[in-house]
Amino acid sequence: MWGWLRNEVDFRIRQWVRLRRGPARLPGESKAGLFGAAGAGGAAGAAEAERLVTTYGLQQWQMASGRTDFAASLFYAAMVEAALHGAQVALPDPLTVLDAGAGDWFYVRPLYGVLRSLGAAAPRQLSLDGVELDAYALYRGWRSRFDWAEAYVGGLPGVRYLPGDIRAYGRPAHLALMLFPFLFPADAQRWGLPRRCLQPGAVLAHVWSLVRPGGALLIANLGEAERQEQTRLLKEAGLQPVWRERFDSPLFSYEQPRFVTVVRRK
Ligand SMILES: C[S@@+](CC[C@H](N)C(=O)[O-])C[C@H]1O[C@@H](n2cnc3c(N)ncnc32)[C@H](O)[C@@H]1O
Repeated sequence: MWGWLRNEVDFRIRQWVRLRRGPARLPGESKAGLFGAAGAGGAAGAAEAERLVTTYGLQQWQMASGRTDFAASLFYAAMVEAALHGAQVALPDPLTVLDAGAGDWFYVRPLYGVLRSLGAAAPRQLSLDGVELDAYALYRGWRSRFDWAEAYVGGLPGVRYLPGDIRAYGRPAHLALMLFPFLFPADAQRWGLPRRCLQPGAVLAHVWSLVRPGGALLIANLGEAERQEQTRLLKEAGLQPVWRERFDSPLFSYEQPRFVTVVRRK
């Protein structure tokens, strides 16, 4: 009760202040040993990272990023790649993509690489929007989530980070992403959102309404309880997944398994 009230007050203050101080500075940490034999993912992680960096032209991101961001962002790229491949989603050119609930978008550059190049002879024209409700959340050093998102986007052409509620966003997309949406009150509360903002069924219905005919919705969930709740929400919305798998990778080991679902619009 008090937690929600405090979130409500703080959220309103953030929305009023709209803190923006310009792009944060990416740390440019060394990646030495990150995936090596002594590192988290072993030799398989190193090989997979090398494959993604080479395939999607991520050398600059490799230099500029922090170690955790780099490894986790490659995990996201591999996850999206595997799901699009598994569900046999052929991306058109030009391509319009929506990422609903983008957070600080630490994974945007590898995601951009996959969306531009997966299955294409030459990089396709991409328009990618990331919509985030709590874009002015306060990060370390009196920077906002927006400041970090700007740094992560790094001026990529065709990419926009848009503060706001996804339910007020109306541009149709060939591909809509919902990467780890909040499904349970405890998570929304921990992340500082007001209780009224947790509307997973309404968000799912709205995002689905934006998927163009022939397009796809890709959802990632965290852990078994979320997988079950996502199943229930999809059923409630009358949506039948065409592909659903657990995704693991030597790039990053999480405590809880990640599940990916793809739904196609006819
Ligand atoms: C668990 S985070 C995931 C963020 C990001 N996709 C990632 O994987 O790092 C869920 C995000 O969705 C955002 N969100 C929740 N409801 C939203 C809404 N109605 N419109 C836009 N963003 C929303 C939250 O503020 C939060 O940043």
